[in-house]
Amino acid sequence: MYKKIKGFFWKKIFSPIYCWCLKRKGIVVGRQVIFFGWPIIECKAKGQIFIGDNVVLCSDPLFTALGVRQKVIIRAITEDALIVLGNNVGASGVTICAAKSIRILENTILGANVLIMDTDFHSIEPKGRRRSGLKNAKVIPIIINENVFVGAGSMVLKGAVINKNSVIGAMSLVASEIEASCIAVGVPAKCVKYIN
Ligand SMILES: CC(C)(COP(=O)(O)OP(=O)(O)OC[C@H]1O[C@@H](n2cnc3c(N)ncnc32)[C@H](O)[C@@H]1OP(=O)(O)O)[C@@H](O)C(=O)NCCC(=O)NCCS
Repeated sequence: MYKKIKGFFWKKIFSPIYCWCLKRKGIVVGRQVIFFGWPIIECKAKGQIFIGDNVVLCSDPLFTALGVRQKVIIRAITEDALIVLGNNVGASGVTICAAKSIRILENTILGANVLIMDTDFHSIEPKGRRRSGLKNAKVIPIIINENVFVGAGSMVLKGAVINKNSVIGAMSLVASEIEASCIAVGVPAKCVKYIN
């Protein structure tokens, strides 16, 4: 009963109001977007975030079998950062943080507690690293193509490209290109088999 009432609240009351708030902040939000739990979604003035139709973002452990360790966090952290969540993307307790561009195309599933970041945040040069900030950090766009399934607890780093229909095993680390229609696992993730 408690879950039913809470579900009703997130879907029918919170989600429409929160979508309205996001639109007022300049974020593009599609139809039937559902937020289970209150996420953190922030965008620098000229940054851009697009959330497609039927996207479901879960920040409440009651509404996903594995639970979540944190709220969904989506941040476009520079003036020219772009984040795209295509239609029907589903994600639980993920962090998506873009300094340049992170595009996650339609029907992709991001398992519980996945972390996606397109920058190292700090310079790899030792001198002045502590205060170097983003301007000296490497930044390379990320693309996760259609119908990908990223397993729980995985990390996707700058420059990663995951091609369509592929599956990334739980707790894997993707730092390069993964072929289409394959299962890639481990640190760093490597293809172990193909999906028909
Ligand atoms: C990726 C996955 C779907 C593949 O399942 P599968 O097709 O049945 O693959 P298999 O179990 O046959 O594993 C193939 C090989 O990869 C290895 N492997 C599988 N998943 C792995 C992982 N996450 N990390 C490292 N190695 C892994 C297996 O040990 C096996 O190695 P071997 O051939 O040397 O014996 C599955 O292993 C997985 O990670 N499931 C978790 C999905 C998840 O996170 N769901 C929650 C979403 S919220």
